[in-house]
Amino acid sequence: MNETINLMMQHSSVRNFTEEKIPEQVLKTIIDAGRAAPNWKNFQSYSIVVVQSQEQKDAIFAQQPQKAIKNCAAFLVFVGDLHRAKTAVEMNGGAFQPEGVESLLITSVDAAVAGQNTLLAAQSLGYGGVMVGLIREQSSEISELLNLPDYTYPIFAIALGKPARVNAVKPRLPYDALVFPEKYIEQDEEVLRQYDKVQDDYAGARRLNSTWSSRMVDQWGKPENPSTRENLTEKGLL
Ligand SMILES: Cc1cc2nc3c(=O)[nH]c(=O)nc-3n(C[C@H](O)[C@H](O)[C@H](O)COP(=O)(O)O)c2cc1C
Repeated sequence: MNETINLMMQHSSVRNFTEEKIPEQVLKTIIDAGRAAPNWKNFQSYSIVVVQSQEQKDAIFAQQPQKAIKNCAAFLVFVGDLHRAKTAVEMNGGAFQPEGVESLLITSVDAAVAGQNTLLAAQSLGYGGVMVGLIREQSSEISELLNLPDYTYPIFAIALGKPARVNAVKPRLPYDALVFPEKYIEQDEEVLRQYDKVQDDYAGARRLNSTWSSRMVDQWGKPENPSTRENLTEKGLL
């Protein structure tokens, strides 16, 4: 173990913040550390909209009511961005063709890698945060609030601030249920049942009325929320 690995192993999402702000230069350093992340062909196919005004945080909260959005010091929205790519392609005499699954994977993986780097940098300085992907339930509304142009879309945000409360580290699936030597090994129900129990024990009094595995029904037992697809189509990416 070393300091970096310890920090990574101590991760837990923070959703409750004090009123303390993040100094501008510190926030810039955190974001620069995020932007140092690897990315597809160095195209850096994402942008970050930094929301710090209470007015804009409240407007986003009105769309997606999660307390962390309203109360964080900074709400960083990670945007998949092929707007610069359009300029580059046309500047170099190409015909811009952004529609498709590869574009979505390239932009969202770039944003995710940078996002995690950003969160980790913030944690290393004593801040905490939570990624907020549910802003995609209101993709068009959030896009409008942030003035996002064609060929861009909100992927997730990170609410950052000084932690007012820190949760215990959430246990992950057992190593062997998720990490396979050489070839994939399909897992049976028993593995999931065991982990449901682990999650229940972890949650203790805060335990929800559902199990970890049953919450997947809400995600994958019904058609997807149309918001993301509609927005991507509107923005020329699908
Ligand atoms: C892409 C992404 C989107 C997420 N969106 C939300 C969200 O909208 N609201 C929320 O409370 N947590 C959100 N989370 C946090 C996860 O729920 C959390 O990381 C997970 O339960 C594991 O808990 P831990 O981060 O405390 O270890 C998101 C995490 C990721 C990676």
